[in-house]
Amino acid sequence: MQSAPHSSPFEGGLLMKTYGCQMNEYDSDRMVTLLAKTFGLETVEEKDDADVLILNTCSIREKAQEKVFDELGRWKKWKAAKPNRIIAVGGCVASQEGNVIRKRAPIVDVIFGPQTLHRLPAMMNEALALREQNRQNKKIKKKAIIDISFPEIEKFDNLAAPESNGVSAFVSVMEGCSKYCTFCVVPYTRGEEFSRPFNDVLAEIETLAQQGVREVNLLGQNVNAYQGIMDDGEVADLAVLIHAVRAVEGIDRIRYMTSHPNEMTQSLIDCYAEVPELVSHLHLPIQTGSDYILGLMKRNHMVIEYKSTIRKIRKIRPDLTLTGDFIVAFPGETCDHFKETLALVRELNFDRSFSFLYSPRPGTPAAGLLDDIDVHTKKRRLQAIQAMLNEQTAEISQKMVGTVQRVLVEDLSRSSIEELAGRADNNRMVNFEGSADLIGQFVEVEITQAFTNTLRGKIVATPEAEKYANQQIKQL
Ligand code: SAH
Ligand code: F3S
Repeated sequence: MQSAPHSSPFEGGLLMKTYGCQMNEYDSDRMVTLLAKTFGLETVEEKDDADVLILNTCSIREKAQEKVFDELGRWKKWKAAKPNRIIAVGGCVASQEGNVIRKRAPIVDVIFGPQTLHRLPAMMNEALALREQNRQNKKIKKKAIIDISFPEIEKFDNLAAPESNGVSAFVSVMEGCSKYCTFCVVPYTRGEEFSRPFNDVLAEIETLAQQGVREVNLLGQNVNAYQGIMDDGEVADLAVLIHAVRAVEGIDRIRYMTSHPNEMTQSLIDCYAEVPELVSHLHLPIQTGSDYILGLMKRNHMVIEYKSTIRKIRKIRPDLTLTGDFIVAFPGETCDHFKETLALVRELNFDRSFSFLYSPRPGTPAAGLLDDIDVHTKKRRLQAIQAMLNEQTAEISQKMVGTVQRVLVEDLSRSSIEELAGRADNNRMVNFEGSADLIGQFVEVEITQAFTNTLRGKIVATPEAEKYANQQIKQL
Protein backbone atom coordinates (compact mmCIF):
# COMPACT_ATOMS: atom_id res chain seq x y z
CA MET A 1 0.00 0.00 0.00
CA GLN A 2 1.26 3.46 -0.90
CA SER A 3 1.92 5.55 2.20
CA ALA A 4 -0.13 8.65 2.94
CA PRO A 5 1.41 12.15 2.64
CA HIS A 6 3.12 13.47 5.82
CA SER A 7 0.27 15.89 6.44
CA SER A 8 -2.26 13.08 6.68
CA PRO A 9 -3.56 12.27 10.14
CA PHE A 10 -4.52 8.78 8.98
CA GLU A 11 -2.36 5.69 8.65
CA GLY A 12 -5.02 3.44 7.22
CA GLY A 13 -7.27 3.83 4.21
CA LEU A 14 -10.85 4.77 3.41
CA LEU A 15 -13.73 2.34 3.51
CA MET A 16 -16.69 3.73 1.60
CA LYS A 17 -20.13 2.15 1.80
CA THR A 18 -22.69 3.44 -0.65
CA TYR A 19 -26.43 2.86 -0.51
CA GLY A 20 -29.21 3.93 -2.85
CA CYS A 21 -29.31 5.67 -6.19
CA GLN A 22 -26.86 6.50 -8.98
CA MET A 23 -26.52 10.01 -7.58
CA ASN A 24 -25.05 8.50 -4.41
CA GLU A 25 -22.68 6.31 -6.44
CA TYR A 26 -21.56 9.41 -8.28
CA ASP A 27 -21.13 11.40 -5.04
CA SER A 28 -19.12 8.54 -3.50
CA ASP A 29 -16.72 8.50 -6.46
CA ARG A 30 -16.22 12.21 -6.04
CA MET A 31 -15.51 11.83 -2.32
CA VAL A 32 -12.96 9.10 -2.96
CA THR A 33 -11.09 11.42 -5.34
CA LEU A 34 -11.34 14.35 -2.94
CA LEU A 35 -10.05 12.41 0.07
CA ALA A 36 -7.24 10.86 -1.95
CA LYS A 37 -6.13 14.37 -2.91
CA THR A 38 -6.43 15.93 0.57
CA PHE A 39 -5.32 13.13 2.85
CA GLY A 40 -3.72 10.64 0.47
CA LEU A 41 -6.41 8.18 1.55
CA GLU A 42 -6.61 5.01 -0.48
CA THR A 43 -9.78 3.01 -0.81
CA VAL A 44 -9.69 -0.30 1.06
CA GLU A 45 -12.17 -3.15 1.39
CA GLU A 46 -11.21 -4.55 4.82
CA LYS A 47 -12.27 -2.96 8.11
CA ASP A 48 -8.82 -3.39 9.67
CA ASP A 49 -7.07 -1.60 6.82
CA ALA A 50 -9.26 1.47 7.24
CA ASP A 51 -9.00 4.56 9.45
CA VAL A 52 -11.93 6.34 7.85
CA LEU A 53 -15.41 4.92 7.36
CA ILE A 54 -17.92 6.78 5.24
CA LEU A 55 -21.51 5.70 4.91
CA ASN A 56 -23.20 7.41 1.97
CA THR A 57 -26.79 6.74 2.87
CA CYS A 58 -30.26 6.53 1.34
CA SER A 59 -33.57 7.32 3.00
CA ILE A 60 -35.98 6.72 0.15
CA ARG A 61 -37.66 3.85 2.02
CA GLU A 62 -37.67 2.96 5.72
CA LYS A 63 -35.62 -0.20 5.21
CA ALA A 64 -32.83 1.72 3.54
CA GLN A 65 -32.73 4.10 6.47
CA GLU A 66 -32.68 1.40 9.15
CA LYS A 67 -29.73 -0.28 7.42
CA VAL A 68 -27.60 2.71 8.39
CA PHE A 69 -28.23 2.37 12.11
CA ASP A 70 -27.70 -1.43 11.92
CA GLU A 71 -24.40 -0.83 10.16
CA LEU A 72 -23.21 1.76 12.67
CA GLY A 73 -23.81 -0.72 15.47
CA ARG A 74 -21.15 -2.98 13.96
CA TRP A 75 -18.32 -0.39 14.06
CA LYS A 76 -17.97 0.38 17.78
CA LYS A 77 -15.02 -1.95 18.43
CA TRP A 78 -13.24 -0.83 15.28
CA LYS A 79 -13.57 2.80 16.31
CA ALA A 80 -12.29 2.19 19.83
CA ALA A 81 -9.20 0.28 18.63
CA LYS A 82 -7.31 3.35 17.32
CA PRO A 83 -7.46 7.00 18.42
CA ASN A 84 -7.64 8.67 15.01
CA ARG A 85 -10.42 6.67 13.41
CA ILE A 86 -13.23 8.70 11.90
CA ILE A 87 -16.80 7.77 11.02
CA ALA A 88 -18.65 10.09 8.68
CA VAL A 89 -22.27 9.70 7.63
CA GLY A 90 -23.46 11.47 4.49
CA GLY A 91 -26.29 11.30 1.97
CA CYS A 92 -30.01 11.50 2.49
CA VAL A 93 -30.30 9.91 5.96
CA ALA A 94 -27.75 12.43 7.20
CA SER A 95 -29.68 15.23 5.55
CA GLN A 96 -32.99 14.17 7.03
CA GLU A 97 -31.95 12.79 10.39
CA GLY A 98 -28.79 14.81 11.19
CA ASN A 99 -29.46 15.39 14.87
CA VAL A 100 -31.13 12.02 15.34
CA ILE A 101 -27.89 10.35 14.19
CA ARG A 102 -26.01 12.38 16.78
CA LYS A 103 -28.24 10.99 19.48
CA ARG A 104 -28.75 7.42 18.22
CA ALA A 105 -25.15 6.84 17.14
CA PRO A 106 -22.70 8.88 19.19
CA ILE A 107 -19.76 7.11 17.52
CA VAL A 108 -20.35 9.22 14.40
CA ASP A 109 -17.86 12.11 14.06
CA VAL A 110 -19.05 13.90 10.94
CA ILE A 111 -22.54 14.31 9.49
CA PHE A 112 -22.79 15.89 6.05
CA GLY A 113 -25.54 16.16 3.45
CA PRO A 114 -25.55 15.51 -0.31
CA GLN A 115 -24.82 19.21 -0.89
CA THR A 116 -21.95 19.58 1.58
CA LEU A 117 -19.76 16.64 0.69
CA HIS A 118 -17.06 18.95 -0.67
CA ARG A 119 -16.60 20.26 2.88
CA LEU A 120 -15.82 16.77 4.14
CA PRO A 121 -12.01 17.15 4.51
CA ALA A 122 -12.43 20.34 6.56
CA MET A 123 -15.11 18.70 8.69
CA MET A 124 -12.88 15.67 9.27
CA ASN A 125 -10.06 17.93 10.45
CA GLU A 126 -12.47 19.73 12.76
CA ALA A 127 -13.64 16.41 14.15
CA LEU A 128 -10.06 15.37 14.92
CA ALA A 129 -9.39 18.71 16.60
CA LEU A 130 -12.56 18.39 18.63
CA ARG A 131 -11.57 14.95 19.74
CA GLU A 132 -8.21 16.28 20.89
CA GLN A 133 -9.97 19.02 22.87
CA ASN A 134 -12.25 16.42 24.43
CA ARG A 135 -9.24 14.38 25.44
CA GLN A 136 -7.69 17.37 27.17
CA ASN A 137 -10.85 18.61 28.80
CA LYS A 138 -13.04 15.72 29.83
CA LYS A 139 -15.89 18.02 30.87
CA ILE A 140 -16.77 19.13 27.36
CA LYS A 141 -19.22 16.73 25.81
CA LYS A 142 -17.99 15.49 22.47
CA LYS A 143 -20.33 16.24 19.60
CA ALA A 144 -20.28 15.37 15.95
CA ILE A 145 -19.43 18.01 13.36
CA ILE A 146 -22.55 18.57 11.32
CA ASP A 147 -23.32 20.45 8.10
CA ILE A 148 -26.37 19.44 6.14
CA SER A 149 -27.12 22.77 4.46
CA PHE A 150 -27.84 23.27 0.73
CA PRO A 151 -25.18 25.59 -0.74
CA GLU A 152 -25.97 24.21 -4.23
CA ILE A 153 -23.46 25.73 -6.64
CA GLU A 154 -20.64 25.44 -4.13
CA LYS A 155 -20.64 21.67 -4.31
CA PHE A 156 -20.10 21.50 -8.05
CA ASP A 157 -17.51 24.28 -7.92
CA ASN A 158 -15.44 22.65 -5.23
CA LEU A 159 -15.27 19.10 -6.37
CA ALA A 160 -12.23 17.78 -8.17
CA ALA A 161 -12.22 17.59 -11.95
CA PRO A 162 -13.33 14.18 -13.18
CA GLU A 163 -10.91 11.36 -13.57
CA SER A 164 -11.91 8.36 -15.54
CA ASN A 165 -10.31 5.05 -16.10
CA GLY A 166 -13.37 3.65 -17.77
CA VAL A 167 -15.13 3.95 -21.08
CA SER A 168 -18.48 4.98 -19.66
CA ALA A 169 -19.00 7.84 -17.22
CA PHE A 170 -21.76 9.41 -15.20
CA VAL A 171 -21.97 13.18 -15.39
CA SER A 172 -24.16 14.92 -12.87
CA VAL A 173 -25.97 17.77 -14.63
CA MET A 174 -28.56 18.73 -12.05
CA GLU A 175 -29.36 18.00 -8.45
CA GLY A 176 -32.47 17.85 -6.36
CA CYS A 177 -36.14 17.86 -7.14
CA SER A 178 -38.91 20.45 -6.95
CA LYS A 179 -41.78 18.10 -7.77
CA TYR A 180 -42.78 17.20 -4.21
CA CYS A 181 -44.59 13.93 -4.96
CA THR A 182 -46.53 13.27 -1.76
CA PHE A 183 -44.59 10.09 -0.88
CA CYS A 184 -41.04 11.24 -1.56
CA VAL A 185 -38.24 12.61 0.65
CA VAL A 186 -35.91 13.70 -2.14
CA PRO A 187 -36.95 17.41 -2.28
CA TYR A 188 -36.30 17.62 1.47
CA THR A 189 -33.02 15.67 1.55
CA ARG A 190 -31.40 16.92 -1.65
CA GLY A 191 -33.08 20.28 -1.98
CA GLU A 192 -34.85 21.86 -4.93
CA GLU A 193 -33.83 21.43 -8.56
CA PHE A 194 -30.56 23.08 -9.36
CA SER A 195 -28.78 22.79 -12.73
CA ARG A 196 -25.09 23.09 -13.42
CA PRO A 197 -24.09 25.72 -15.97
CA PHE A 198 -24.11 24.39 -19.52
CA ASN A 199 -20.42 25.07 -20.22
CA ASP A 200 -19.26 23.42 -17.00
CA VAL A 201 -21.06 20.24 -17.99
CA LEU A 202 -19.66 20.32 -21.52
CA ALA A 203 -16.12 21.01 -20.30
CA GLU A 204 -16.36 18.02 -17.97
CA ILE A 205 -17.56 15.80 -20.80
CA GLU A 206 -14.76 17.01 -23.09
CA THR A 207 -12.20 16.13 -20.40
CA LEU A 208 -13.76 12.70 -19.99
CA ALA A 209 -13.71 12.14 -23.76
CA GLN A 210 -10.01 13.01 -23.85
CA GLN A 211 -9.47 10.35 -21.18
CA GLY A 212 -11.08 7.72 -23.41
CA VAL A 213 -14.72 7.85 -22.33
CA ARG A 214 -17.09 6.86 -25.16
CA GLU A 215 -20.44 6.88 -23.35
CA VAL A 216 -21.91 9.43 -20.96
CA ASN A 217 -24.87 9.00 -18.71
CA LEU A 218 -26.30 12.42 -17.88
CA LEU A 219 -27.43 12.19 -14.31
CA GLY A 220 -29.97 14.04 -12.22
CA GLN A 221 -32.73 13.31 -9.76
CA ASN A 222 -34.99 14.82 -12.41
CA VAL A 223 -32.55 15.10 -15.24
CA ASN A 224 -35.02 16.17 -17.91
CA ALA A 225 -35.85 19.24 -15.82
CA TYR A 226 -32.32 20.45 -16.67
CA GLN A 227 -32.11 24.24 -17.16
CA GLY A 228 -28.46 25.13 -17.57
CA ILE A 229 -27.41 28.73 -17.95
CA MET A 230 -25.26 29.38 -21.02
CA ASP A 231 -22.55 32.01 -21.47
CA ASP A 232 -24.89 34.26 -23.46
CA GLY A 233 -27.47 34.18 -20.68
CA GLU A 234 -29.82 31.83 -22.53
CA VAL A 235 -30.99 28.69 -20.80
CA ALA A 236 -30.33 25.24 -22.28
CA ASP A 237 -32.73 22.38 -21.65
CA LEU A 238 -31.79 18.71 -21.76
CA ALA A 239 -32.45 18.51 -25.52
CA VAL A 240 -29.98 21.32 -26.20
CA LEU A 241 -27.45 19.65 -23.92
CA ILE A 242 -27.86 16.30 -25.69
CA HIS A 243 -27.22 17.94 -29.06
CA ALA A 244 -24.07 19.59 -27.68
CA VAL A 245 -22.80 16.37 -26.10
CA ARG A 246 -23.31 14.61 -29.38
CA ALA A 247 -20.82 17.02 -30.97
CA VAL A 248 -18.07 16.17 -28.47
CA GLU A 249 -15.46 14.12 -30.28
CA GLY A 250 -15.17 10.59 -28.94
CA ILE A 251 -18.59 10.49 -27.29
CA ASP A 252 -20.71 8.08 -29.29
CA ARG A 253 -23.36 7.04 -26.86
CA ILE A 254 -25.61 9.14 -24.64
CA ARG A 255 -27.93 8.07 -21.84
CA TYR A 256 -29.84 10.10 -19.27
CA MET A 257 -31.59 9.29 -16.01
CA THR A 258 -33.84 9.65 -14.03
CA SER A 259 -36.54 11.46 -15.85
CA HIS A 260 -40.02 12.67 -15.00
CA PRO A 261 -42.99 12.17 -17.35
CA ASN A 262 -43.96 15.85 -17.11
CA GLU A 263 -40.59 16.97 -18.47
CA MET A 264 -40.68 14.86 -21.64
CA THR A 265 -40.85 17.91 -23.90
CA GLN A 266 -41.34 17.71 -27.66
CA SER A 267 -37.75 18.81 -28.23
CA LEU A 268 -36.52 15.97 -26.02
CA ILE A 269 -38.72 13.51 -27.91
CA ASP A 270 -37.36 14.93 -31.18
CA CYS A 271 -33.84 14.00 -30.01
CA TYR A 272 -34.79 10.37 -30.63
CA ALA A 273 -35.13 11.26 -34.31
CA GLU A 274 -32.21 13.68 -34.51
CA VAL A 275 -29.51 12.17 -32.30
CA PRO A 276 -28.47 8.62 -33.23
CA GLU A 277 -26.03 8.61 -30.29
CA LEU A 278 -29.00 8.75 -27.90
CA VAL A 279 -29.83 5.18 -26.85
CA SER A 280 -33.15 3.46 -27.45
CA HIS A 281 -33.65 3.00 -23.75
CA LEU A 282 -35.67 5.21 -21.47
CA HIS A 283 -36.13 5.05 -17.71
CA LEU A 284 -39.38 6.86 -17.06
CA PRO A 285 -41.02 6.13 -13.71
CA ILE A 286 -44.82 6.28 -13.60
CA GLN A 287 -45.38 4.65 -10.15
CA THR A 288 -48.99 3.53 -10.79
CA GLY A 289 -51.40 2.89 -13.65
CA SER A 290 -54.31 4.55 -11.85
CA ASP A 291 -55.22 8.18 -12.45
CA TYR A 292 -56.80 8.35 -9.00
CA ILE A 293 -53.58 7.20 -7.28
CA LEU A 294 -51.47 9.43 -9.54
CA GLY A 295 -53.59 12.30 -8.20
CA LEU A 296 -53.00 11.27 -4.57
CA MET A 297 -49.29 11.01 -5.31
CA LYS A 298 -49.39 14.51 -6.84
CA ARG A 299 -47.58 13.35 -9.95
CA ASN A 300 -49.48 16.03 -11.91
CA HIS A 301 -50.14 13.95 -15.00
CA MET A 302 -52.52 11.24 -16.17
CA VAL A 303 -51.83 7.76 -17.48
CA ILE A 304 -52.91 8.72 -20.99
CA GLU A 305 -50.24 11.44 -21.15
CA TYR A 306 -47.56 8.96 -20.19
CA LYS A 307 -48.79 6.50 -22.82
CA SER A 308 -48.82 9.23 -25.42
CA THR A 309 -45.17 10.11 -24.70
CA ILE A 310 -44.13 6.48 -25.06
CA ARG A 311 -46.18 6.12 -28.23
CA LYS A 312 -44.48 9.15 -29.77
CA ILE A 313 -40.99 7.85 -28.96
CA ARG A 314 -41.80 4.33 -30.14
CA LYS A 315 -43.04 5.79 -33.42
CA ILE A 316 -39.51 7.10 -33.93
CA ARG A 317 -37.72 4.20 -32.24
CA PRO A 318 -39.86 1.06 -32.43
CA ASP A 319 -37.12 -0.82 -30.56
CA LEU A 320 -37.27 1.48 -27.49
CA THR A 321 -36.91 -0.45 -24.24
CA LEU A 322 -38.75 1.15 -21.40
CA THR A 323 -37.94 0.79 -17.73
CA GLY A 324 -39.88 2.24 -14.84
CA ASP A 325 -40.45 2.44 -11.10
CA PHE A 326 -43.69 1.33 -9.47
CA ILE A 327 -45.04 1.91 -5.99
CA VAL A 328 -47.42 -0.78 -4.82
CA ALA A 329 -50.11 -0.35 -2.14
CA PHE A 330 -50.06 3.42 -1.85
CA PRO A 331 -52.69 4.37 0.83
CA GLY A 332 -56.13 4.18 -0.78
CA GLU A 333 -55.08 1.82 -3.58
CA THR A 334 -57.95 -0.61 -4.20
CA CYS A 335 -57.78 -3.89 -6.02
CA ASP A 336 -59.16 -2.16 -9.12
CA HIS A 337 -56.53 0.58 -9.00
CA PHE A 338 -53.85 -2.08 -8.77
CA LYS A 339 -55.36 -3.93 -11.73
CA GLU A 340 -55.01 -0.71 -13.73
CA THR A 341 -51.28 -0.76 -12.95
CA LEU A 342 -50.99 -4.35 -14.14
CA ALA A 343 -52.91 -3.48 -17.31
CA LEU A 344 -50.53 -0.61 -18.02
CA VAL A 345 -47.48 -2.82 -17.47
CA ARG A 346 -48.98 -5.40 -19.83
CA GLU A 347 -49.79 -2.81 -22.47
CA LEU A 348 -46.48 -0.94 -22.54
CA ASN A 349 -44.10 -3.87 -21.96
CA PHE A 350 -41.39 -2.93 -19.48
CA ASP A 351 -37.83 -4.16 -19.22
CA ARG A 352 -35.95 -4.62 -15.92
CA SER A 353 -38.06 -2.30 -13.79
CA PHE A 354 -38.29 -1.60 -10.08
CA SER A 355 -41.32 -2.12 -7.90
CA PHE A 356 -41.50 -1.21 -4.24
CA LEU A 357 -44.03 -1.44 -1.46
CA TYR A 358 -45.05 2.03 -0.41
CA SER A 359 -43.04 3.13 2.62
CA PRO A 360 -44.36 6.11 4.60
CA ARG A 361 -41.60 8.69 5.05
CA PRO A 362 -41.67 11.11 7.97
CA GLY A 363 -42.37 14.68 6.96
CA THR A 364 -43.97 13.84 3.59
CA PRO A 365 -47.66 14.67 2.98
CA ALA A 366 -48.58 11.02 2.28
CA ALA A 367 -47.28 9.96 5.70
CA GLY A 368 -50.52 11.37 7.11
CA LEU A 369 -52.79 9.29 4.85
CA LEU A 370 -54.66 6.38 6.36
CA ASP A 371 -52.94 3.15 5.36
CA ASP A 372 -55.82 0.65 5.28
CA ILE A 373 -54.32 -2.12 3.15
CA ASP A 374 -53.49 -5.30 5.04
CA VAL A 375 -50.00 -6.71 4.85
CA HIS A 376 -51.00 -9.88 2.93
CA THR A 377 -52.71 -7.87 0.23
CA LYS A 378 -49.64 -5.66 -0.04
CA LYS A 379 -47.34 -8.63 -0.45
CA ARG A 380 -49.66 -10.32 -2.95
CA ARG A 381 -49.77 -7.19 -5.10
CA LEU A 382 -46.00 -6.78 -4.99
CA GLN A 383 -45.53 -10.42 -6.02
CA ALA A 384 -48.03 -10.05 -8.85
CA ILE A 385 -46.35 -7.01 -10.38
CA GLN A 386 -42.88 -8.46 -9.91
CA ALA A 387 -43.93 -11.69 -11.60
CA MET A 388 -45.27 -9.75 -14.58
CA LEU A 389 -42.20 -7.49 -14.81
CA ASN A 390 -39.86 -10.50 -14.59
CA GLU A 391 -41.79 -12.29 -17.29
CA GLN A 392 -41.56 -9.27 -19.59
CA THR A 393 -37.86 -8.92 -18.89
CA ALA A 394 -37.25 -12.61 -19.70
CA GLU A 395 -39.24 -12.25 -22.91
CA ILE A 396 -37.14 -9.27 -24.00
CA SER A 397 -33.98 -11.29 -23.29
CA GLN A 398 -35.27 -14.19 -25.36
CA LYS A 399 -36.18 -11.89 -28.23
CA MET A 400 -32.63 -10.53 -28.23
CA VAL A 401 -31.22 -14.02 -28.90
CA GLY A 402 -30.22 -14.17 -32.56
CA THR A 403 -30.06 -10.39 -32.98
CA VAL A 404 -26.87 -8.43 -33.50
CA GLN A 405 -26.31 -5.71 -30.89
CA ARG A 406 -23.95 -2.76 -30.87
CA VAL A 407 -22.00 -3.25 -27.66
CA LEU A 408 -19.54 -0.89 -26.00
CA VAL A 409 -16.78 -3.07 -24.55
CA GLU A 410 -16.30 -1.90 -20.97
CA ASP A 411 -14.02 -4.37 -19.26
CA LEU A 412 -12.92 -7.94 -18.79
CA SER A 413 -15.85 -10.00 -17.61
CA ARG A 414 -16.03 -10.75 -13.90
CA SER A 415 -16.14 -14.50 -14.39
CA SER A 416 -13.25 -15.07 -16.75
CA ILE A 417 -10.24 -13.14 -17.98
CA GLU A 418 -10.68 -14.36 -21.53
CA GLU A 419 -14.11 -12.85 -21.62
CA LEU A 420 -15.19 -9.30 -22.23
CA ALA A 421 -18.19 -7.49 -20.83
CA GLY A 422 -20.07 -4.60 -22.33
CA ARG A 423 -23.48 -3.04 -22.61
CA ALA A 424 -25.89 -3.08 -25.50
CA ASP A 425 -27.83 0.02 -26.46
CA ASN A 426 -30.70 -1.04 -24.20
CA ASN A 427 -28.34 -1.19 -21.20
CA ARG A 428 -28.27 -4.99 -21.06
CA MET A 429 -24.95 -6.52 -20.00
CA VAL A 430 -23.43 -8.89 -22.57
CA ASN A 431 -20.45 -11.25 -22.11
CA PHE A 432 -18.44 -12.58 -25.03
CA GLU A 433 -14.99 -13.84 -25.94
CA GLY A 434 -12.50 -11.34 -27.25
CA SER A 435 -9.17 -9.70 -26.70
CA ALA A 436 -8.65 -6.98 -24.11
CA ASP A 437 -7.57 -4.39 -26.69
CA LEU A 438 -11.20 -4.14 -27.75
CA ILE A 439 -12.02 -2.40 -24.45
CA GLY A 440 -13.28 1.08 -25.29
CA GLN A 441 -14.52 0.11 -28.75
CA PHE A 442 -18.00 -0.45 -30.10
CA VAL A 443 -18.29 -3.99 -31.45
CA GLU A 444 -21.13 -5.94 -33.00
CA VAL A 445 -22.19 -8.94 -31.00
CA GLU A 446 -24.65 -11.63 -31.94
CA ILE A 447 -26.59 -12.71 -28.89
CA THR A 448 -26.45 -16.49 -28.48
CA GLN A 449 -27.88 -17.14 -25.03
CA ALA A 450 -30.03 -15.35 -22.46
CA PHE A 451 -29.66 -15.77 -18.69
CA THR A 452 -31.58 -14.07 -15.90
CA ASN A 453 -29.30 -11.05 -15.57
CA THR A 454 -26.89 -11.22 -18.48
CA LEU A 455 -26.62 -12.27 -22.08
CA ARG A 456 -23.95 -14.23 -23.90
CA GLY A 457 -22.87 -13.55 -27.42
CA LYS A 458 -20.13 -13.73 -29.99
CA ILE A 459 -18.41 -10.88 -31.78
CA VAL A 460 -19.42 -10.71 -35.44
CA ALA A 461 -17.74 -7.42 -36.35
CA THR A 462 -15.22 -4.96 -34.92
CA PRO A 463 -15.86 -1.84 -36.99
CA GLU A 464 -13.52 0.35 -34.96
CA ALA A 465 -10.55 -2.02 -34.71
CA GLU A 466 -8.70 -0.47 -37.63
CA LYS A 467 -9.18 3.10 -36.40
CA TYR A 468 -7.86 2.12 -32.98
CA ALA A 469 -4.89 0.22 -34.41
CA ASN A 470 -3.95 3.33 -36.43
CA GLN A 471 -4.27 5.53 -33.36
CA GLN A 472 -1.96 3.25 -31.41
CA ILE A 473 0.62 3.27 -34.20
CA LYS A 474 0.49 7.09 -34.23
CA GLN A 475 1.13 7.19 -30.49
CA LEU A 476 4.21 4.92 -30.75
N1 SAH B 1 -37.15 11.25 -9.86
C1 SAH B 1 -37.74 9.99 -9.94
C2 SAH B 1 -37.78 9.22 -8.65
C3 SAH B 1 -36.62 9.16 -7.71
S1 SAH B 1 -36.88 8.16 -6.28
C4 SAH B 1 -39.18 10.12 -10.52
O1 SAH B 1 -39.42 10.89 -11.35
O2 SAH B 1 -40.07 9.38 -10.13
C5 SAH B 1 -36.73 6.53 -6.96
C6 SAH B 1 -37.94 5.68 -6.79
O3 SAH B 1 -38.12 5.30 -5.44
C7 SAH B 1 -39.23 6.35 -7.16
O4 SAH B 1 -39.45 6.37 -8.54
C8 SAH B 1 -40.25 5.54 -6.43
O5 SAH B 1 -40.72 4.47 -7.20
C9 SAH B 1 -39.49 5.02 -5.23
N2 SAH B 1 -39.93 5.68 -4.00
C10 SAH B 1 -39.75 6.96 -3.65
N3 SAH B 1 -40.32 7.20 -2.46
C11 SAH B 1 -40.90 6.04 -2.05
C12 SAH B 1 -41.64 5.65 -0.92
N4 SAH B 1 -41.96 6.52 0.05
N5 SAH B 1 -42.07 4.37 -0.83
C13 SAH B 1 -41.79 3.49 -1.80
N6 SAH B 1 -41.09 3.80 -2.90
C14 SAH B 1 -40.64 5.06 -3.03
FE1 F3S C 1 -39.30 12.11 -5.67
FE2 F3S C 1 -41.26 12.75 -7.24
FE3 F3S C 1 -39.02 14.10 -7.29
S1 F3S C 1 -40.54 10.71 -6.84
S2 F3S C 1 -37.48 12.66 -6.75
S3 F3S C 1 -40.44 14.03 -5.62
S4 F3S C 1 -40.28 13.54 -9.04
